[in-house]
Amino acid sequence: MPSSPNLFVYHQQEIIPLEKAYLHISDLAVQRGYGIFDFFKIQNNVPLFLDDYLARFYESARLMDLPVPFTPDELKKVLYQLMAKNQIPESGIKMVLTGGYSEDGYTPAAPNLIITQQPVSLPTEEIIQQGIKIITYSFVRELAPAKTINYTTGIRLMKEVKAQGATDVLYYHNEVITEFPRSNFFIVTHDNQVRTPEQDVLKGITRKNVLELADKKYPTAAGTVTLTDLAQAKEAFLTSTTKRIIPIVQVNDQIIGNGQPGPVTLDLLQDLTTLENQHALVASF
Ligand SMILES: Cc1ncc(COP(=O)(O)O)c(C=O)c1O
Repeated sequence: MPSSPNLFVYHQQEIIPLEKAYLHISDLAVQRGYGIFDFFKIQNNVPLFLDDYLARFYESARLMDLPVPFTPDELKKVLYQLMAKNQIPESGIKMVLTGGYSEDGYTPAAPNLIITQQPVSLPTEEIIQQGIKIITYSFVRELAPAKTINYTTGIRLMKEVKAQGATDVLYYHNEVITEFPRSNFFIVTHDNQVRTPEQDVLKGITRKNVLELADKKYPTAAGTVTLTDLAQAKEAFLTSTTKRIIPIVQVNDQIIGNGQPGPVTLDLLQDLTTLENQHALVASF
């Protein structure tokens, strides 16, 4: 169990110390890996883009047929109570909804809602300056629009990613790129078009923000991106809540562009950081 003194969590209708929060072994999350979750960032005590994350959480629950035991407004109240209790101005909150305590180890029961809050760390300046190497792997996530707790393939491949001196693995299927286990993918073409896969991906909130920001300055497209498109791209990057934007400079043995983080990528990172800082200034409690 991670040792995180003084952290409080929401579990079974109560806000309790982390070390007292236990789930029974009959939960379908344990027995069958059945559940969904979502994760958002808190900056300056303000949850960023909360409504977008809540909408995705409810949509994932709907796709997995898991009833959320609260309305969005009730859930928000619980989230603010937890934030007030923990007092971690720069952090992340994870909401997990499990298949519940199943009688027969297969049939879903009343879902368990678990909410945790922890400090988050963003990528270092060094990673941004250097960019990362990634490898590719043929795989499509089952029920891609849902943020399920199933990360089997990504976790199983961690050793291989490390062995290749890479940082992450990009999924593709029949030459068509989808996403990373925990991030979305973008390329910048030679005519500065910003493109991201649209099918078989989790619609990341960072992806949405980056698409909107890019649309103000560059041609953008959400559609098919192939391995050939990637091989010909000028720049590539990934997006996620905790990583914001990380430049990709190598895919397998191939260098992308000139092997350095590209100007469009870095420009969009600056715009995203500014957008997040603007949101964080709107103190909401
Ligand atoms: C499969 C998958 N794709 C993309 C993302 C990135 O989404 P977001 O920008 O909302 O963090 C995640 C986040 O965990 C994910 O699990």
